[in-house]
Amino acid sequence: MTKKAIAVIILEDIERIKESIMIKETLEKIEQISADTLAAIAESVSLDAVNDIRVKILGKKGELTAVLKTMGKLSAEERPVIGAKANEVREAVESAIAEQMSRLKSLNYETRLREEAIDVTLPGKRVSLGKPHPMSNVLSDMKEIFRAMGYTVVTGPEIEETRYVFDMLNTKEGHPARDESDTFYIENDVVLRTQTSSVQIRTMLENKPPIAIISPGRVFRRDEFDATHSPVFNQCEALVVDKNITFADLKGTLETFMKRLYGDSVRLRFRPHHFPYTEPSAEVDLSCFKCGGDGCSMCKGEGWIEMLGAGVVHPQVLRNCGIDPEVYSGFAFGVGLDRITMMRYEIDDLRHMYENDLRFLKQF
Ligand code: DAH
Repeated sequence: MTKKAIAVIILEDIERIKESIMIKETLEKIEQISADTLAAIAESVSLDAVNDIRVKILGKKGELTAVLKTMGKLSAEERPVIGAKANEVREAVESAIAEQMSRLKSLNYETRLREEAIDVTLPGKRVSLGKPHPMSNVLSDMKEIFRAMGYTVVTGPEIEETRYVFDMLNTKEGHPARDESDTFYIENDVVLRTQTSSVQIRTMLENKPPIAIISPGRVFRRDEFDATHSPVFNQCEALVVDKNITFADLKGTLETFMKRLYGDSVRLRFRPHHFPYTEPSAEVDLSCFKCGGDGCSMCKGEGWIEMLGAGVVHPQVLRNCGIDPEVYSGFAFGVGLDRITMMRYEIDDLRHMYENDLRFLKQF
């Protein structure tokens, strides 16, 4: 063997030794990356952190990617060794990432469930609900009582012509009820109605008997606002027109109405009175709710409380509306809704009914 040949062999050996050192170093480097990365993944506490690790190791400029890029320089024998190791590590890292991500996700979910939990045993917030005004309670009872007896509930305008409020109700020019000191005039022949009796006329003009209506609504008078008066208050009118209607029907109807509204023990007293639109006419008192008739502060010692005006419809009123009084007759009454409400709930001042003080309203 020539010296030259020996030298070549030695050089080749050196080369081989160098390469095997390089493989060893690369493998060690890959191992190191693998160990560091798996530890970092295990310690990461957020999805973002895990994702950062993935980019740092497996991304385009990642550490493992960089190692793989150097593989081009390796010989044909070395490449599969490094390649196999690198793949093995990549798979291990990828599966560790996937596992950690799913662990963190379920952890997040549990934390959210815990933090956002609602304690269904806590006391709720009270929603304060509105309630009907006491007068609405009485009115709806009244409507029910009369509907059950076959009446229809109708309404009429608050701004009304004098012929419906006065003339056709037999209340002629010069009658004190028409006085400007009592009535709000809008024009000479237009007023704020002073009574719901105007609806009687409108009803009879538009309908033929048999008629049975009640008509609740606001009425207006030039009164002071005090414990017993108000420039606006509420009435309910009733009208029945048919053949053979008598005062007895009026009495029976009022008895039934009041007993249903206030209970069977209530008693009624009819006193002769005068209204231009009824003949005969009566004022009707009820036995006092508080003392039952013995006399107390509520009834001012009388035992009776004045409740309403009523009567047999005047033949002229029927005639005014084109109804023949020889064939038909009727009865009518008008009751103050404020008054029956105040009696029912023992309210002693009319102003409470209109001031809408919540401390008052909440009691009903
Ligand atoms: N309109 C009367 C008032 O305001 C109440 C009244 C009395 C109505 C007798 C009637 C009735 O229908 O017949 O005081």
